[in-house]
Amino acid sequence: MVKTLAIAVPNRLDERNYMELIVPYVDAMQNMMYRLEALNKDFSRKYQNDPIHHIQSRIKTKGSIEGKLRRLQLETTVENARDSLTDIAGIRVICHFIKDIDWIVDIVKRQKDLIILKERDYIRNPKPNGYRSYHIVFGVPVYHTDGMEYYPVELQLRTMSMDFWASMEHRICYKKEPRQPIAQEMLVEEFAQYARQLEEIESHMERYCEGR
Ligand code: GTP
Ligand code: MG
Repeated sequence: MVKTLAIAVPNRLDERNYMELIVPYVDAMQNMMYRLEALNKDFSRKYQNDPIHHIQSRIKTKGSIEGKLRRLQLETTVENARDSLTDIAGIRVICHFIKDIDWIVDIVKRQKDLIILKERDYIRNPKPNGYRSYHIVFGVPVYHTDGMEYYPVELQLRTMSMDFWASMEHRICYKKEPRQPIAQEMLVEEFAQYARQLEEIESHMERYCEGR
């Protein structure tokens, strides 16, 4: 008897596949949002202030998934999106001070049903242009009718001053067409300088907020 091999045909990312792809990512993201909101409420009840100023969340658009896969020189398929992207679901947590970020990261990391997939501390190790934020990708359990799977949710934690810097830099420089090399270098140095100034202002302000 001749056996036929079942060859899985990759699913091109069309509108329908995209809507199906994002369903568990939406669940994982909501799950993570509830955890963060619960922590903020609990903290606020105990210490009469909120470590979180505000939270933003987003699911990567179809166009943005395609763009990133192309940059990675991968075909724009559902499988590649699932296997290669860890930022389809993203949450940005804006705090007042670095100590609030450290507190949140520490507590969320202790939640035993989450797994850590990737962690980058750009606060202690800023990018050359001055970008600062704490990035951590959690695997969040999502329960289907036939079992459980972890889905990645990227958390970016920043203070308000880091967020101000990142928004401006994003608007002006991030992933834009390369300028004249010399102009580009000057811009990077200028933004690195702004980041250092903002860091200094923030740490001065933090001194007025000693203790909880
Ligand atoms: P992306 O392809 O942008 O997702 O980057 P990556 O997968 O190499 O990861 P990385 O940790 O460098 O950046 C993830 C995200 O952090 C970006 O999508 C931005 O939201 C933010 N980010 C990283 N670097 C910069 C930067 O230099 N400037 C700004 N404004 N944002 C940045
Ligand atoms: Mg990203």
